[in-house]
Amino acid sequence: MSVMGLGYVGMEARDLGAWRKFGTEVLAMQVIERGADTVALRMDERCQRVLVQRGANDAPSFFGFETANAQDWQTVLARLESAGVSLTRATEKELAARHVEAMAWCRDPSGNRIEIFHGQATGEQTGDGPLVLPRPHSGFRTGPLGMGHVVFHVADIEAASRFYRELLEFRLSDYMIKPYRLMFLRANPRHHSVALLQSPNPGVHHVMFEVLALDDVGRSYDAALENWRIGQTLGRHANDWVLSFYAFCPAGFMMEVGFGGRTVDEATWTAREVTHGGSMWGHDRLYLDEEKRRAANEVRRAVVKAGLGGPLQITRGQYTEVK
Ligand SMILES: [Fe+2]
Repeated sequence: MSVMGLGYVGMEARDLGAWRKFGTEVLAMQVIERGADTVALRMDERCQRVLVQRGANDAPSFFGFETANAQDWQTVLARLESAGVSLTRATEKELAARHVEAMAWCRDPSGNRIEIFHGQATGEQTGDGPLVLPRPHSGFRTGPLGMGHVVFHVADIEAASRFYRELLEFRLSDYMIKPYRLMFLRANPRHHSVALLQSPNPGVHHVMFEVLALDDVGRSYDAALENWRIGQTLGRHANDWVLSFYAFCPAGFMMEVGFGGRTVDEATWTAREVTHGGSMWGHDRLYLDEEKRRAANEVRRAVVKAGLGGPLQITRGQYTEVK
């Protein structure tokens, strides 16, 4: 068996206050204090999905991928070890900070710390009680789809692809060759839990969270426009159909708040090359330099001309059901 999806992410931060503010305003997550040097962000019944620990840098520190149980966890670890990947078992302190039953970590070929875990506690189990989001909110789309997705910049896309597809058993959903190489990989029906973007500078491009109502994207967008740096304006992706915007988080990379992602039917889906760019409309890539931004908008103009669209993905509870 393989990993089920993205379960949590970890950040190192010089200033926990920035994360409290970003987590509340843009992500609309519950801020939970875990001592003087740790802040956790909660978005569902789990005790935490973003763990922010005080450190010397503002940077992402780890990415947690979940297995269903101890047996699957052992299977994934054995596969990594037999491929020569060096694994480190979590210390008691690390297990306690993550509130998981078991965890071991390794580096992916780009150097990202990848943690394989199972048995993350709920908020009830850790004594944090029921979820209380900081403003009226529809909630986040998690459960069997995991907490969202992460997109990595990778210098060697072939090596990264082997790691995620052969060792962690992610499946290819879509890929792009021009103007840059990009692979979208799924671990569950979410169109992608990981994407790999060929780039000379390894790092994190963005992490995505999905909310259950379009209005919650708008409310977060208002807050981001007011107090945070926008990376990409409101827009809709051409392949996973997510309607979203991107803002820079305190760790220096972008976080995407989106709605209405499509899911993949494993039985019928065929991986295809995406030839029409990243977005149907919007997503003006403000983070790029002028030349690249102009090129991206050129691609988008052609997509708009062609009228590329996709059905709006209505989430249960967001419409009146006619019986
Ligand atoms: Fe995304």
